[in-house]
Amino acid sequence: MQQAVSAPEPATTTLGIRQDFPILARTFNGHPLIYLDSAATSQKPNAVIDALADHLRNHNANVHRGVYPLAAESDAAYEGARKRVASFTGAEQLSTIFTKNVTEAINLVAYAWGRANVHAGDAVLITQMEHHANLVPWQVLCRERSAQLRYLEVDEHGQLSLEQLDSELARGDVRLVAFTHVSNVLGTINPVAAMTARIRAAGAVSVVDGAQAVPHMPVNVAALGADFYGWTGHKALGPTGVGVLHGRTELLDAMEPFLTGGDMIASVEAQSATWNELPWKFEAGTPPIAEAVGLGAAVDYLGAIGMDQVRAHELALAAYMHTRLAEIPGLQIMGPEDPEHRGGLASFTIDGMHPHDIAELAGRAGVCIRAGHHCAQPLMRALDLRATARASVGVYTEPWEIDALIDALIAGRAVFGT
Ligand SMILES: Cc1ncc(COP(=O)(O)O)c(C=O)c1O
Repeated sequence: MQQAVSAPEPATTTLGIRQDFPILARTFNGHPLIYLDSAATSQKPNAVIDALADHLRNHNANVHRGVYPLAAESDAAYEGARKRVASFTGAEQLSTIFTKNVTEAINLVAYAWGRANVHAGDAVLITQMEHHANLVPWQVLCRERSAQLRYLEVDEHGQLSLEQLDSELARGDVRLVAFTHVSNVLGTINPVAAMTARIRAAGAVSVVDGAQAVPHMPVNVAALGADFYGWTGHKALGPTGVGVLHGRTELLDAMEPFLTGGDMIASVEAQSATWNELPWKFEAGTPPIAEAVGLGAAVDYLGAIGMDQVRAHELALAAYMHTRLAEIPGLQIMGPEDPEHRGGLASFTIDGMHPHDIAELAGRAGVCIRAGHHCAQPLMRALDLRATARASVGVYTEPWEIDALIDALIAGRAVFGT
């Protein structure tokens, strides 16, 4: 990482929406809450909190089974949320499935598609930069099926190589390729459309983990060409407990259900059952109704800002954060150097300080950053690291918060005498 030679211009980017997020009015140790852990989970605007509370307060009933007017309201709210979420990501409603989170969305594909289509001698290809959510399900599948799990490598700039993808696909045994849209550790934005086109041409299926992309940039799943694209509501200003899987309709239609029980059936006999239509075939049991309604409000909120605006804001913040972090002696930032190739997060180490100490000392100044392996242990091993500290921005982040992070890191270094 290069050191800055002169003080950077203070960044001025702001969406002016901090006041929409009530939690950001809190103080810790007399400091305002400076929340730089949006990659772990986002904070929630009043619009989402109110939509959730309004549903529970005024419209709560189970869905798909009541004929009385209150149940019809709840149905309309839940299916209306699906419509808004699908349109937000350029997907079809019928192939937009609500799950618990992206982890469940990926497991759905690993179980319902993987068990039927991956056999002994086949290969599943993932990348070294995957979160455990997009790694362990494929490990388990491959072990069960005597299939091979292979990895695309991350280069010294934190990027994948399309040439390596081509040569892996040319081996002819790859049935499925799973990769993240944006790395939660390196920040790398992967070239999804270029990758899915190659994967499709090789006759394999693509699974994209959009957890760190959908909240931060325009995402159109149809244009990206992924066979399956999953993301998680709580990182996208929505509540916990709701995630999304978009799938290609032909694939979803051909798949057996993942979870079975109520709501996902067409009819049940003593010894057999037939399945409901899409998307309900994949939504067994009472779904996360109020949470989906909250997510509908979240995508409306993001849509009203405009995802191009969101990306432009976060790009400016990320560039500023990168420049300011580089002022700190002994600090190394992981991942691509060009902010255009990365999302709004920076994982870093500081010589002589454990990442947990960095995060702990920052926390005393009200600055929330994450430290650890970020659920990406194979990546950490490839980087020869045990942990990093990670600062990540969101729509509500303002430049003075980056300045506060830098001040806290400088003070922290002084404590350690580094
Ligand atoms: C890239 C990525 N994938 C998957 C996940 C898992 O998300 P969830 O726990 O909501 O399923 C995360 C969360 O940190 C993530 O950053």
